[in-house]
Amino acid sequence: MSKILIVYATTDGHTAKIGERLRKALQAQGHEITLAPVTDQPQPDPAGFDKVVIGASIRYGHHSPLIADFINRHQQSLEARPNAFFSVNLVARKPGKDHPETNPYLQRFLKRIAWRPQRLAVFAGKLDYPRYGFWDRRIIQLIMLITKGPTDPQTVEEFTDWDRVEAFAQTLAEM
Ligand SMILES: Cc1cc2nc3c(=O)[nH]c(=O)nc-3n(C[C@H](O)[C@H](O)[C@H](O)COP(=O)(O)O)c2cc1C
Repeated sequence: MSKILIVYATTDGHTAKIGERLRKALQAQGHEITLAPVTDQPQPDPAGFDKVVIGASIRYGHHSPLIADFINRHQQSLEARPNAFFSVNLVARKPGKDHPETNPYLQRFLKRIAWRPQRLAVFAGKLDYPRYGFWDRRIIQLIMLITKGPTDPQTVEEFTDWDRVEAFAQTLAEM
């Protein structure tokens, strides 16, 4: 049994939902999971855990700066125990951009941080036009038009491959 910390950054809750799925899968194997948004105060300290997993979604090309701050502050602790990172974005719905090695956001992020996660994952996110404000909706529609995705403003669609999330949970369990 391991004590596993999952810290995540989310804006609309989808990364939290993925974190929840990881938590359930790992708990089912007898692990003790702490699932915490990076905005929690006080923030959890990775030093108190056997393994650490960090996840964040992309918004206009970037993961939340709070996640990079957390990583930079705890880099030594992260490196001292099994660790992993996952990114959530809509580009990852496209074949050829759906793996850590081929997802441009994840690759760019790794160049910006010194931490080298031992395991990586990329998950396609959720499109939820009705939830977005006017400008966000228009901009995402434009991006979807360019990338041949749904542009109907009523679209609510999860592109996440939950089998991949489960497989990542298994990878984490085996670390
Ligand atoms: C305002 C906004 C900007 C976004 N920008 C991007 C982007 O630049 N690239 C991308 O692939 N996905 C982008 N997305 C899609 C999100 O990454 C996706 O919806 C994800 O599921 C959001 O996760 P969260 O609810 O945990 O924040 C954007 C979504 C919103 C609402």
